[in-house]
Formats: sequence, structure tokens, C-alpha cells
Amino acid sequence: MCGIIARVGHDDAIGDLLGALRTLEYRGYDSAGIAVQNGHGIEVHKREGRIADLESAVAGQTISGSVGIGHTRWSTHGAPSDENAHPHTDCHGEVAVVHNGIIENYAELRDRLSEAGHEFVSETDTEVIPHLMEEHLRHTDPETAFRRTIGELSGSYAVAMLVRDEDAVFATRRGSPLVLGLGDGEYFLASDIPAFLEHTSEVIYLDDGDVVHLTPDGYRVTDGDSRPVERPIQTVDWDPEDVGKGGYDHYMLKEIYEQPTALRQTIRGRIDTLNDDVILDSFPPGSFDEVTSVQFVACGTSYHAAVYAAGLLNESGVPAQAYLANEYGVSEPPIPENALVVGVSQSGETADTLEALRYADAVGARTLVVTNVVGSTAARECTDAMYIRAGPEIGVAATKTFTSQVASLALLGERLIRDVTGTPSRFSAELLDSLSRLPSDVQQTLDDSTADELAELFDGSDAYFFIGRGLGYPVALEGALKFKEISYEHAEGFAAGELKHGPLALVTPDTPVFAVFTGQHTEKMLNNVKEVQSRGAPVIAVVGDESEEVHRVADEVLTFPEAPAYASGIMANVQLQLVAYHAARRLGRPIDKPRNLAKSVTVE
Ligand code: F6R
Repeated sequence: MCGIIARVGHDDAIGDLLGALRTLEYRGYDSAGIAVQNGHGIEVHKREGRIADLESAVAGQTISGSVGIGHTRWSTHGAPSDENAHPHTDCHGEVAVVHNGIIENYAELRDRLSEAGHEFVSETDTEVIPHLMEEHLRHTDPETAFRRTIGELSGSYAVAMLVRDEDAVFATRRGSPLVLGLGDGEYFLASDIPAFLEHTSEVIYLDDGDVVHLTPDGYRVTDGDSRPVERPIQTVDWDPEDVGKGGYDHYMLKEIYEQPTALRQTIRGRIDTLNDDVILDSFPPGSFDEVTSVQFVACGTSYHAAVYAAGLLNESGVPAQAYLANEYGVSEPPIPENALVVGVSQSGETADTLEALRYADAVGARTLVVTNVVGSTAARECTDAMYIRAGPEIGVAATKTFTSQVASLALLGERLIRDVTGTPSRFSAELLDSLSRLPSDVQQTLDDSTADELAELFDGSDAYFFIGRGLGYPVALEGALKFKEISYEHAEGFAAGELKHGPLALVTPDTPVFAVFTGQHTEKMLNNVKEVQSRGAPVIAVVGDESEEVHRVADEVLTFPEAPAYASGIMANVQLQLVAYHAARRLGRPIDKPRNLAKSVTVE
């Protein structure tokens, strides 16, 4: 999930490009770059680090040009480095490209181009695009070459390109956002409107497959079949103050709503529903043949994702246990021979988790981290890494990274189950099918949510409790954590079966209870619901939309599309994220930066 900008006009583009990148920095911040037509050719400046590092580098140069492209990167292929930063070029400086998304067939294209003599300098999937373009330019004009190039790509992309001696930008999108901005004597293309909002509020939303040819004198949009198309011009009434949040009041809300996109990125190319197969490039079948058990180590929200994953593995006969990383470090439990120790950490920098992984490594265990950050300390130190590809998360409260962690862990879990037991899990087809439907199911959950009204209904309660069983238990824990950390209200999550062993003493008519139903253990969950209702507590069932009995018994419901337990838990969590958000908003809390908390906890 990177940020793209292109700008054409009659005066210098550098200031606009750098300004746009500063605005887009929230989309990625591990490296950045720009390229401009400087009158003699294409001039590229790029480097690892924040936009400020790029600005300092450019400040010392005499660089100018009225047509340019820029990029801020969030790594998905290849660690953050100067070489892997965009724009990427071909062998002879004929072409410069910025790209957001994933080119799924890059390995095959790269092999073909390498055989034809192209030299690659980065580890990115993007670099195949300028080399392909260079090939096609040998035979035809730039616009046709551009079409032929994108015709060879599979995956998701938004691409903007400079071609030597062309006072123009060529661009297209498929599955990744790209918006055209119509300014006064200047035109923009960006992955997000805020990038050019200070110049214009007139925009054109491009359709998948559209190709744009942008020059200082105008723009032309053609569809996938090269037919000219008129896309409506719209005026956005956003406050430039909101830039970076894409029009949302808070990063957290933006990130909650980004979950369908984040999930698409997470699962892209990893599920083959036709053949009921999991495709993990770094972990082909047999990768875990020697593994006999799994220990997860993680903190906070990531620990809840780990509890979910351990549940999934145990159900399939792979012994698995989730540990709080800080306790693991303290108690140093025995690690059985051939155990795989899996760290779950969106940042890959959490000190407690790193410590636990280092202990495992020191006693000779194989370690693997599931993380959002390519090149993070955990990714560098562990034997293996799996990336969740959720894009950058700015809000301190983890939302989309939890969802993408759970989806990634489900896929990794299926690979482990197959390797360890020799057969697919008994729920394999159902799991893979529900994961592939998850982006649209989560979208529907968001579209239909009544969490805001519910938060209003229970505003001012004494405390908020969350209960669940099986895969619903980590969701209850996570619902409570999110609620307490951003609202500062008392919230607790319990295994529903534990209520009668103590927590029931806290239940009163002023303690609403959120009951997570995933389709597992429904009868027992209903008994727990009655248990708290008989103490006067109102029950909000978070449940699939077809579960009639639960709807009848509950006082209120938050629903999601009917799905197997593995996917239901994720959708229930999305509803609970929204409840926490709206409760905190009503209380006027600083949602993106809750007191005393930091995004990445790098001390033990
Ligand atoms: C809560 C939250 C934290 C983190 C925890 C671990 O919303 O974000 O509980 O989950 O600090 O962080 P990572 O996943 O970066 O290791």
C-alpha cells in the first residue's frame, strides 16, 4: 500500500511532487523517490527513509522539470533500501515507473527479461514494468507500448510512467486506487485525493483498466479496448486539514474501513479455491515437514491473533500454544524438539516479542515471524518471515493489522496442518472459500453496521464485558482491549465458560455484555447469555445474520454475513472495532493517540 503522485504542468513540478509525498507519507514511509523530465532525459532521485530524507537529498541539487512522478513506499517485495525505492527504471534510462500494488507474475516476467539480457538492480516486483516497456518501445509508439506492457501484468496495480523525450505521463489502474486531479494549468494523478487537494478539488475517479495520457495541455482517458471514454468530473468538498486521513475523522476509522482492501492484499495470490490449495511463495509444500508442534509468542492485539491461530491448529491435531511474549521470556518454557516458534507482531519491533524469539533461537528452535513490516528487526532475525501486507497502520490501536494477521495465520496454519499431518485440514475447503469471500463480507459488515447507534444506547454504562468460546474467545479479548484502550472505560473479555467462576459477580443491569457468536458452541453460548440476562445485563449478540435463535434471545444484535467460524470471528471483530471507535468518539477521546500508549513498544 504505497502512495503515488504524478504532476504535469508548465512550471516546475518538484515542489508539488514533494508536497504531495509529504501528504501521502501515511500510505508508506520506508523509502521515497521522484523522477522528472529535466529537458535532457529522465532524472531520478530516491532513497531509503522518510520523505524528509529525500527532501534533504534533493535540496542540494539543481533539479527542475514540469513533468514528474513520485512515490512513497511500503515494502511488500524486498526490504526498504535505495535500490528498492521507486521510481524504477529500465537499463538505458528510457522509462521511469512508480507502482502501487502487487505484480503476481513478476517472477516469470523477470526470468524471461533476464534471459533477454535485462539487468535487474532491485528485489521488487515493480522493476519488471520499465524493462517490459523498454522491450515494447523497440517496436511501437509509447502509448501502444504502455498498453502492451500492462497487458502482460497480472495482479493489482496503479502505475504512472515517464518515457524519455515525451512531455507526458502514462498511467493506469487495476485494483489499486488512482484519481485524476484537474488543476489550473496543471494535472495530477494520485493514489489519494489529499495529495493534490491544495491545488484542486475537481477530480475524475478512474475505472479499472482505464489508461490516462496526461500532458501539460490536457488529458485523455481511454478504456481497456483503447476507446476514448468520458469519466464524470466531480467536485470534492474535503477540508485540506483532513489530508492524510483521506476524509475520515481519525486514522483508526480510516484503517477500519480499509480492511476489505487490506484483506485483498493479504490473500492475493495465496489461495487457489479451484484446487483447494494454499500458495505461499516462501513456504511451498513440505516447508514444515519436520515440525511437530507450534508455540506462538506475541503481545496485546497480536497475542489475540496468536490465540486464534493456536485454536485453529489444535482443532486439526497440530499441538499449538499461544504465549504472551513477556511471560514466555520470564518463564522460558521448554521448547519441544522440532517445535516451530512463531512470533506475531505487526511492527516486528516489539521488544518483548523479539526477546521471546531470541530465547527460542538461542535454544536452537526454528523461528518464524508473521509481520506487517518488511525488513523489521523480527523479519531480519527470524529464520523465516511471512508478511501480512496490510499497508501502514498509523492509529495506535491495531485494527486492519489484526484482521490481516488472522487471515495470514489461517493460511500459514493450513500449510502447517498439511505438512505436519500429511493431509489438508478437515475444514480446508470451507476455510479457503470463506477467506476468499472475506474482503466483500467485511465490506458488507462495515456497510450495514449499527455500531454507532449501539454505542449511543449504552453510553455511560458502568463497564463493558465481552464473552466468547472457541475462536470467539480471542475476539472477545480483542473487543475488550480495543474498547478500553481508546475509550478509557472499564472493559473486560472473558471465556464465556469462565463467567460462573468469578466474573459473574460484576454483572449488573449497567454492564452490557457483548456475546461473540461464531457458529461454534452456540447452545453453550446461549446458556451464558441467559446467565447474564438473568442478572439484568443487556446482551448484544455479535452474530451471523441468519442465526434466528440468537437474534430472538439477544437484546440487541450486531450482524455480519453468515460464514464459517474462521471468518465469522474476523467479522465480529470488525463490529467490535466500530463499537469501540464510536464509544470513544462520543467521549471525545484522542482516538489515534490514546494516553500512555505507543504504536511500537520497543522497551521491555
Ligand atoms: C493494541 C495494540 C497493541 C499491540 C502490541 C504488539 O491495539 O496495538 O496491543 O498489538 O503492542 O504490537 P506488535 O504487533 O507491533 O508486536
